[in-house]
Amino acid sequence: MTRLMIVLGSVREGRVGLPIAEWVRKTAQADGRFDVDFVDLAELNLPLMDEPNHPRLRKYTKAHTTAWSERVAAADGFIFLFPEYNHSYSPGIKNALDYLNSEWHRKPVGFVNWGGNSAGTRAQAALKPVVAALGLVITMGNIEINFPQKQLSEASEFEPNGQQREVLKLQLDEILALSEALKPLR
Ligand SMILES: Cc1cc2nc3c(=O)[nH]c(=O)nc-3n(C[C@H](O)[C@H](O)[C@H](O)COP(=O)(O)O)c2cc1C
Repeated sequence: MTRLMIVLGSVREGRVGLPIAEWVRKTAQADGRFDVDFVDLAELNLPLMDEPNHPRLRKYTKAHTTAWSERVAAADGFIFLFPEYNHSYSPGIKNALDYLNSEWHRKPVGFVNWGGNSAGTRAQAALKPVVAALGLVITMGNIEINFPQKQLSEASEFEPNGQQREVLKLQLDEILALSEALKPLR
């Protein structure tokens, strides 16, 4: 089974990110090809990056960093979910990335983004050079949702449309294919 880590990068109270992430998590689990590790950065509660050494040295001094390092190192691929804040990515996702280095190398990542009119596309574009710097390989198919609140049910569950369902399926296929292709390079 491919070990897929799903990371939810919005942490504020009342975030729409949580129901979107629940949809992605349930879809990945129901798919049957993935061993899913769900990371809610609000629960992980990493401080602002506080290690004295550059992460590429892997000389971690804090228990929270060692635990995060082991968890990310165990993953074969990722889906990052994050909203657009002020034309860029949410700070939690960048902080979680900055903690580590080689743990991310040569692994695939898919993005699920949301926002207003921009549908999170500026957040997505802003994170691309960051993940490239860490050796992550981005999937072609990524999900952009505009005004996702409109797609919440009365029970506050995210109700994806057909196109969003289709793109998520393609994204999961690609994570699987890239994960296999990149394994010999790790
Ligand atoms: C601090 C802040 C900045 C925002 N900036 C943008 C923005 O630049 N573009 C946009 O489309 N939406 C922006 N929004 C709207 C968010 O995309 C929307 O509130 C979304 O629900 C945030 O995701 P979350 O609920 O998971 O935190 C902003 C929201 C916040 C709280």
